[in-house]
Amino acid sequence: MAAELVGGALLSAFLQVAFDRLASPQLLDFFRRRKLDEKLLANLNIMLHFINALADDAELKQFTESYVKEWLVDVKEAVFDAEDLLGEIDYELTRCQVEAQYEPQTFTHKKNKKIESGMKEVLEKLEYLANQKGDLGLKEGTYSDDNDRSGSRVSQKLPSSSLVVESVIYGRDAEKDIIINWLTSETDNPNQPSILSIVGMGGLGKTTLAQHVYSDPKIEDAKFDIKAWVCVSDHFHVLTVTRTILEAITNQKDDSENLEMVHKKLKEKLLGKRFLLVLDDVWNEKREEWEAVRTSLRYGAPGSRIIVTTRDEKVASNMRSEVHLLKQLGEDECWKVFENHALKDGDFELNDELMKVGRRIVKKCKGLPLALKTIGCLLRTKSSISDWKNILESDIWELPKEHNEIIPALFLSYHYLPSHLKRCFAYCALFPKDYEFVKEELILMWMTQNFLLCPEQIRLPEEVGEEYFNDLLSRCFFNQSSVVG
Ligand SMILES: Nc1ncnc2c1ncn2[C@@H]1O[C@H](COP(=O)(O)OP(=O)(O)OP(=O)(O)O)[C@@H](O)[C@H]1O
Ligand SMILES: [Mg+2]
Repeated sequence: MAAELVGGALLSAFLQVAFDRLASPQLLDFFRRRKLDEKLLANLNIMLHFINALADDAELKQFTESYVKEWLVDVKEAVFDAEDLLGEIDYELTRCQVEAQYEPQTFTHKKNKKIESGMKEVLEKLEYLANQKGDLGLKEGTYSDDNDRSGSRVSQKLPSSSLVVESVIYGRDAEKDIIINWLTSETDNPNQPSILSIVGMGGLGKTTLAQHVYSDPKIEDAKFDIKAWVCVSDHFHVLTVTRTILEAITNQKDDSENLEMVHKKLKEKLLGKRFLLVLDDVWNEKREEWEAVRTSLRYGAPGSRIIVTTRDEKVASNMRSEVHLLKQLGEDECWKVFENHALKDGDFELNDELMKVGRRIVKKCKGLPLALKTIGCLLRTKSSISDWKNILESDIWELPKEHNEIIPALFLSYHYLPSHLKRCFAYCALFPKDYEFVKEELILMWMTQNFLLCPEQIRLPEEVGEEYFNDLLSRCFFNQSSVVG
């Protein structure tokens, strides 16, 4: 869900990088040895903490107030400038250490001046932005400190069974039957292969439905010779998509850089075979590009089918597909999805008080499984009725229509993350949507970014990374990848 949240929402996460650099004793030492103005460092630290205290409130208000949104953009630029400058100093520090081993250090007056003037410039910008606090009506918050590990303590108790979320699907029986019927029925479609698009907004459950259809035993009746699942996502390059389809069919990596070659191989594989292909998360609106991909798919035997999932009906019509508009879940199913995630391990139902507030929260999720699941996961970490009421009464639900690309439930759930997790999660937002993270690789990346807090080296960074990862997973910030095929 990272991409959905990128917007302006991640300031507090990025500020942490600057705090870490400022906390380094070598930095102060560097300033002292070069006789640079230490006050500049102290002021930068104070100013960034002041801005950080406003970040929570600003991140909320940006959705309703455009001035706050602009302010956040400016603040982010100033923070990046500060980080750049600290990065440069860091580089200078390392360079001096290395050079000192071979020759006496030469501190140039010019470089010192540059650092000081850069620092002053950043400070001026930040001061100017901090002074707008009153005009913008921003309140200082008690942002969660790095040492506040309460969030992670709570979630450590969470059951691992919640990780296999896709195995439970509510309220989609009828829709599943419709799609399975379409797959198994005989139609005389001259435009081989037949295509059906499952269309609906983000988080409505298109992929989940397609996955359940794909792995349903009834599909056996349709006697497909080949089944393949391809996650298309943001970038629709003809060569890449065609090659990914080929790879999904052959289960082998293909390095061909030539479209002709890939088409030829795909044609050979499909010739006379009845296939089922799922193209998940298609965004491409250009008909010609789709036609170029379709060229070799025509060689499949009659009865071949393609299921597409997309948020956009235009995409579906460009692919000349039938359209299945996915509906929001009904009230009862909504409750089931929510309860499934909100219940603590071993509990069978919520107590009356929580249930009452829970029902009202569920209404605000507007039938969207992703919202229900995310908010359910968030509330599982909170047992007090006052926490539930706070979430019910949050302003975030009232986001104006034009900001609907961010589901309020997702933002709420991000908002309540402790800062050490916000930072790690924000880092994931730099990767493309649907990017499949490998846990160990991601932990290594967090380690290189210095995101993992290992007080007094009591625990290994790998252990801390694993805890953070599991914490984000149990709060539904990652979807467990299901190996389809
Ligand atoms: N019917 C359902 N019952 C329970 N959980 C569901 C249901 N449908 C979806 N979910 C859960 O909601 C989440 C979002 O679903 P999914 O990824 O299928 O949405 P999507 O429509 O494909 O979104 P996107 O447009 O972003 O790709 C998933 O984690 C899934 O586990
Ligand atoms: Mg999807």
